[in-house]
Amino acid sequence: MTETPARPLDDGRAIPAVGLGTWPLDDDAAEKAVAGALGLGYRLVDTAMNYRNETGTGRGIARSGVPREDVFVTTKVPGRHHGYEETLASFEESRRALGVEYVDLYLIHWPLPRVDKYVDTWRAMIKLREDGLVRSIGVSNFTAAHLDRLERETGVLPAVNQIEMHPLLVQDELRAVHTAKGIVTESWSPLARGRDVLDAPETVAVAAAHGVTPGQVVLRWHTQLGAVPIPKSADPGRQRENLDLSGFELTPREMARIAAGPQRRFGGDPDVHEEF
Ligand SMILES: NC(=O)c1ccc[n+]([C@@H]2O[C@H](COP(=O)([O-])OP(=O)(O)OC[C@H]3O[C@@H](n4cnc5c(N)ncnc54)[C@H](OP(=O)(O)O)[C@@H]3O)[C@@H](O)[C@H]2O)c1
Repeated sequence: MTETPARPLDDGRAIPAVGLGTWPLDDDAAEKAVAGALGLGYRLVDTAMNYRNETGTGRGIARSGVPREDVFVTTKVPGRHHGYEETLASFEESRRALGVEYVDLYLIHWPLPRVDKYVDTWRAMIKLREDGLVRSIGVSNFTAAHLDRLERETGVLPAVNQIEMHPLLVQDELRAVHTAKGIVTESWSPLARGRDVLDAPETVAVAAAHGVTPGQVVLRWHTQLGAVPIPKSADPGRQRENLDLSGFELTPREMARIAAGPQRRFGGDPDVHEEF
């Protein structure tokens, strides 16, 4: 079994260095993928109310036999539930679906700046943490301006910002903001959904030089930048590969080489993307 070392969070807790993404698995597929991944040594599982697989994810955790306290469970409040009372109710729905007493990390899925309720939503997250129902609170897809506003209006910064990040979207500026504010970067679509990155000649060449796979090179690139990648795989072989990132180190030149291409997003622009 591969052990995943943890990264410290600013709230005194810690997050495993690599996790398992569960979108777009349905309940049955999520149950199988999560149980299998935990058996391989994964200790961080990422879901969201909007993935509609919290029930399967919870079943997978229970089926794995890994003690609940050893699993770092993340879920997210959807756009349609922004607002103070709505977030508290949404959390309860997620908690029941997952079948857990508490959630390790609760995130605001998207900021939805036009709706303009993310500060009230954040106040509810703070309350959930105070009540012990959530261990750590964070956000997803927040820009530097959104983070500044949370800090200014509530005095509480997120422990984590989960953002789109891969070698085609290196996020240098936002990661520098995170570092300055003590926020851990979690990277979603860390493999760029398998498109254009894993088969890039630079990635393939670096992988061959180290005797590892392109996926391992890309995930190692994340961890060397201090980010926590949450690759999704439902395949036991690729799950194992994605967790096994020790035993080699990328040089600064290799780090630059695999991320030298033109930058582009695969997902939404946080300033305008609306997902309810
Ligand atoms: N916060 C947000 O707004 C947000 C948005 C999107 C995603 N997410 C989270 O981030 C997670 C990961 O992102 P993602 O699923 O979009 O993309 P990803 O993890 O970059 O890529 C997943 C795809 O790559 C394949 N794959 C996995 N490991 C591989 C490997 N070693 N070699 C080759 N192919 C591999 C998977 O197929 P197989 O299953 O067949 O291996 C799947 O098709 C999601 O599952 C979700 O939990 C969050």
